[in-house]
Amino acid sequence: MEMKLSQFLRLWGLIMVLSVFYSCTNVNTNRDKASAFQEPYRPQFHFTPPSQWMNDPNGLVYHQGVYHLFYQHYPDSTVWGPMHWGHAVSSDLIKWQHKPIALYPDELGLIFSGSAVVDVANSSGFGTSENPPLVAIFTYHLMDGEQAGRKDFQTQGIAYSLDNGERWFKYEGNPVIQNNDIKDFRDPKVFWHEPTQQWILTLVAGDHAKFYKSTNLKDWTLLSEFGKTQGAHGGVWECPDLFELPVAGSQEKKWVLLISMNPGAPNGGSGTQYFVGDFDGTSFTTDQTNARWIDQGRDNYAGVTFNNMPNDERVFIGWMSNWDYARTTPTEVWRSAMTLPRSISLHQDSIGFYIKNYPVSQLSSITSVTFEEKAVLLTEPFELTQDNFNQSELRFDMLLSEPLKLTLSNDLGEQVVLEMDPERRMLRFDRTQSGLVDFDQKFALGVQKQSYHNANELAELRIIMDASSIEIFIDKGRYVFTNQIFPTAPYTRITLTGNPSTVLKDFKINKLTSIWHHE
Ligand code: FRU
Repeated sequence: MEMKLSQFLRLWGLIMVLSVFYSCTNVNTNRDKASAFQEPYRPQFHFTPPSQWMNDPNGLVYHQGVYHLFYQHYPDSTVWGPMHWGHAVSSDLIKWQHKPIALYPDELGLIFSGSAVVDVANSSGFGTSENPPLVAIFTYHLMDGEQAGRKDFQTQGIAYSLDNGERWFKYEGNPVIQNNDIKDFRDPKVFWHEPTQQWILTLVAGDHAKFYKSTNLKDWTLLSEFGKTQGAHGGVWECPDLFELPVAGSQEKKWVLLISMNPGAPNGGSGTQYFVGDFDGTSFTTDQTNARWIDQGRDNYAGVTFNNMPNDERVFIGWMSNWDYARTTPTEVWRSAMTLPRSISLHQDSIGFYIKNYPVSQLSSITSVTFEEKAVLLTEPFELTQDNFNQSELRFDMLLSEPLKLTLSNDLGEQVVLEMDPERRMLRFDRTQSGLVDFDQKFALGVQKQSYHNANELAELRIIMDASSIEIFIDKGRYVFTNQIFPTAPYTRITLTGNPSTVLKDFKINKLTSIWHHE
């Protein structure tokens, strides 16, 4: 009898091992199917998770030739749920390779947004100076605490990797920043501040940012606060980022503070404002009085920039969605995409400082010209048809003082319209008839508007369309409209109208190839 029992147990063990193996291979097969990346609305050159839910980009960092993109991820559903950090890597910021999940929730909570640094001098002691650790700094969100009606359920934790992001270990001394009863207390962004030789951490606390310092990434001291009476306050402050940039065309440098806010963006729901000022290692100050926004479209949120970039470049990635309707967009296998990686630069004119965000130059590696004209005259409306504009780019230069109406449409009457109205100094973008819009009342709220500087200067207009997105960059990213669209058939027609005097110079239509064929 005893023999039989042990045989039975062994057999049972074997069955269990086989069934786990089978379910793993099955998961892989499902993932493989998903990673054909051919489903309706699947972006072809924007980052998406293989399957399920994604929101904010996290832990953007460059290390040893690899760009890391971590992201808020719920691997069990296409709607938001217990947050993990998904992970992907790239060697050029354009083609991404999916990696296993990097951080899982644990007894301290779900893993909310945060950042990652290369701890070059091994200040944390997690690695060695020969093999410096990657350290991730994130928010723990303790569901039980929130459900119990407490306020202190968000704390900050850290984790490290010694093999360039392959395996992650949580620090046993977590949390490294406790919560003093602040309900929204999250999204730490850390960087090394060279002049004061210390780590600086920025996080948000509802209606303001808090700055901390540390020499070892484990012990943090509060330095200062910013923002209770500055900028827009129509919603909760989220996902801060603080960095220094040269002012284009001068010797001067200034500090930029990005603050995402939900709701309360000028065109509805989630949006990202910025402040230009100074940071002395302790406090951020600015004399900016009005709120400024990096994007006038509705789908660029929670964006932050890479740490440790080569050549001091400042590259930004945003989540291409909006909490107003993020959970209901009409995709099935996965949900939501990132913006294209964009270079951020700082400029100044008579009105003050402003930042531009514009696709990184590496995008040209997947771009080829399909139509080209030295000049297109709008003495009469100009129309062009192609099989599918939804994986292409349109660009030309024109005077900002000229009017323009640009329509992209299909035979079903679905369309998006961009208008440049120099008389009213107003840019307008309309996606109310772009295709599927009624999956959520808040998706097609109305026409998006932004006032602009209608200077008598040549400026570039660049429009990049992927399966379910359209990104419009005017004057190299001074005015940007990033939006999701869900046409039920591809747009096949471009119609352009203007003044008889409007000339579109260096007019080009490019196609972009898919980044997923290697999956
Ligand atoms: C921003 C945000 C962050 C938070 C995360 C949770 O979209 O709300 O503040 O850390 O998403 O997924």
